[in-house]
Amino acid sequence: MPLPTVVVQVDPSHPSPEILAEAAARILRGELVAFPTETVYGLGANAFDAEAVRRIFEAKQRPFDDPLIVHLAEIEEVEMVATEFSAVAARLASLFWPGPLTLLLPRHAALPVEVTSGLDTVAVRIPSHPVALGLLAACGVPIAAPSANRFGHTSPTSAAHVVEDLDGAVELILDGGPTPLGIESTVVDPRPTPAVILRPGGVTREQLEAAIGPVRYAEPGERRAASPGRLPRHYAPRAEVILCAGDSAEAIAASIDEHALRLIAGGRSAGVLAASEVHQELKSSLAHVFDLGGWDDLLGIARRLFLGMRTLEAAHVEVILCHLVPAHGLGLAVNDRLRRAAHPLQK
Ligand code: TXA
Ligand code: MG
Repeated sequence: MPLPTVVVQVDPSHPSPEILAEAAARILRGELVAFPTETVYGLGANAFDAEAVRRIFEAKQRPFDDPLIVHLAEIEEVEMVATEFSAVAARLASLFWPGPLTLLLPRHAALPVEVTSGLDTVAVRIPSHPVALGLLAACGVPIAAPSANRFGHTSPTSAAHVVEDLDGAVELILDGGPTPLGIESTVVDPRPTPAVILRPGGVTREQLEAAIGPVRYAEPGERRAASPGRLPRHYAPRAEVILCAGDSAEAIAASIDEHALRLIAGGRSAGVLAASEVHQELKSSLAHVFDLGGWDDLLGIARRLFLGMRTLEAAHVEVILCHLVPAHGLGLAVNDRLRRAAHPLQK
């Protein structure tokens, strides 16, 4: 039976204590609550309630072998979920928490195995969004929360996206408007030397290296540093995504034009997801275009990326033509999501 999903507006900077208390009471009763973080919306449950955690997997149709991130209100709570906090982990936490960094730590035995999918590590972060922090503080328990989308789909950067994917599967959605960063947290394994980026995200490689020296970036497809969310096809809209290459805006636009002509000739509908500079050079006039903003504004691109994918998907285009961005700063995370969205569907 589908649940009645309640959507409540909440001020993103000063969430009402009454609303947070209501959401916290629901979490403590074993219900699911979707809430905004600075990265994307999360689908939360009490991390110590195994039954509620199982419901997260069911709601998302996520395989049980893909572990969840545990969110904390403050650093002192780490000892509730992990047995050890190494010097490297502590340094990263002191610099980047609250914020978009997730650290793998040795798992505490008290944590239900469902959260970590039976692994001996737990992924932990303190989010910086006032609604997420307020909810965590009001609950007093760690909240296990993956992104609030159906498994494999584009992550949600607004409450409307959560409704699209999870209406009837979650009790409450706190609508705090669009998320400020728009791309997920960086997942880091701080145990090996050098530390490993398992998923690039909101904290950049450059920021990590300034803090702890060289880090290794495990390219997608590299098996050894397996993080289940690193499945090749992920973050994907319901359209084929084609990455158009070129070493300038003009060259990328030419490649998009070429693909567009071929697709139209073949009777297929296409949309363009590209930086403003590329849009300016396009010759073809497709009905469905989404402007990611200026090429150099990687934060702006990160913010608009998932909205762009979902907007073109909602326009029912069969193919999305887009391009990679400069591979520094947030560009590493943007390109990771684009490559995974573009990975061919397994037939
Ligand atoms: O920004 C974010 O990280 C958002 C917000 C809601 O916090 N959450 C998020 O969760 O993106 P999710 O479940 O969509 O992605 C978590 C990633 C997955 O790739 C998962 O496989 C990985 O973290 N992960 C979780 N626990 C892990 C563990 N113990 N070892 C390796 N990877 C782990
Ligand atoms: Mg996810």
